[in-house]
Amino acid sequence: MDNFTYSISTVVHFGKGQIKMLGGEIKKRATRVLLVYGGGSIKRNGVYDAVAEQLRKNDIEWVELPGVEPNPRITTVRRGAALCREHGLDGVLAVGGGSSIDCAKAIAVGACYAGDPWDFVCGKAAPQKGLPLFTVLTMAATGSEMDPIAVISDIEANRKQGFNSPHCLPAASILDPCYTFTLPANQTAAGVADIMSHTFENYFSPIEDSFLADGMAETILKGCIKYGPMAIAQPDNYEARANLMWCSSWAINGFLKMGKPVTWSVHAIEHQLSAFYDITHGVGLAILTPNWMRYVLNDKTQHRFADYGVRVWGLDPALPQRQLAETAIDKTREFFNSLGLPATLAQVGIDDSQLEAMAKQAWNPRFASSVFVPLTVEDILNILKMSL
Ligand code: NZQ
Ligand code: ZN
Repeated sequence: MDNFTYSISTVVHFGKGQIKMLGGEIKKRATRVLLVYGGGSIKRNGVYDAVAEQLRKNDIEWVELPGVEPNPRITTVRRGAALCREHGLDGVLAVGGGSSIDCAKAIAVGACYAGDPWDFVCGKAAPQKGLPLFTVLTMAATGSEMDPIAVISDIEANRKQGFNSPHCLPAASILDPCYTFTLPANQTAAGVADIMSHTFENYFSPIEDSFLADGMAETILKGCIKYGPMAIAQPDNYEARANLMWCSSWAINGFLKMGKPVTWSVHAIEHQLSAFYDITHGVGLAILTPNWMRYVLNDKTQHRFADYGVRVWGLDPALPQRQLAETAIDKTREFFNSLGLPATLAQVGIDDSQLEAMAKQAWNPRFASSVFVPLTVEDILNILKMSL
């Protein structure tokens, strides 16, 4: 195992009714917040009212930024940062899924920065400070509620990129599984694919002695396989929603990559699909992931996929390794299909016209080392072609 430092300071209040903790958490650190949310689901399912009640009860003033787009735009981040400065706000509260939370993160650091917040996204500058950030999660998927990452898009320029800063880590997050009961089946499925992809990105690494992290990864994958279909069949099944929610946070809060070099491959490719075609993140991952697995399967990697097949899918360890590996990959695709997720780019309206541009943009120097299997631009292009 490699050396590591692990520190996650986000306070998590998990479970039914935990919204009651929100006001107290904010009051410790802020008096006037920017309330950031998406297209209106929180107004329809009552979450907005519960949040507003908390703010009122605790004498916390707020200004609203509604309308955050799925794949949040830099233009919305700029508007949010300007609102914080204009109204002298001292905190940011995100209510929603990963898009609202990521947008709020970029706003929190953008409000404390004299330049353009896109500087953080493109790596021109690193945040030096941020307003305290609070989240109320309504969708199990990205893990943004407990990680320091924000993914922001400039769709006009076909750019979508993540940045990472300790100043983006939420101070406190409310995770009430009941708030996800209204999530439609397609978004529930996309969320499950996202959680599984985060887990795969950490699990398939060149180092194989990270026993605790790998065991946890396998448990998260089994949790998705058990509870994903249950949440789709019974949207108000608390056990299913609660387990998916907690799996989402732990798939990406850093624990699974402790002790090993990890470079995320499939996410870098998917971000290009979203950047060029504005598709749902989890859908893109479901299309690409089994194809990436098939592409990197070889004599050296097959035992890792075989282990995954035995430990996660319960395959018979007596079978030949290559057969186990191929069956495990087939099972991954069949599972995504069973959730109703698309399996090809054609199904989401993507043809071969931009594949080369997307492959070039997806590649980064980390793909050459510290990665499960190194990928060139041509390899990425091949994976995209396999996905057509
Ligand atoms: O906008 P509203 O009206 O709220 O509707 C949303 C949106 O249409 C809806 N929704 C969310 N909760 C709901 C609900 N509808 C009914 N009931 C509820 N309880 O679902 C739709 C999708 O929401 P969004 O926030 O876009 O989804 P998600 O959580 O999957 O976030 C996706 C974004 O996060 C980024 C993705 O790239 C994408 O931009 N990611 C962020 C990461 C991070 N911060 O660590 C890592 C991920 O790999 C990912 O890249
Ligand atoms: Zn993801």
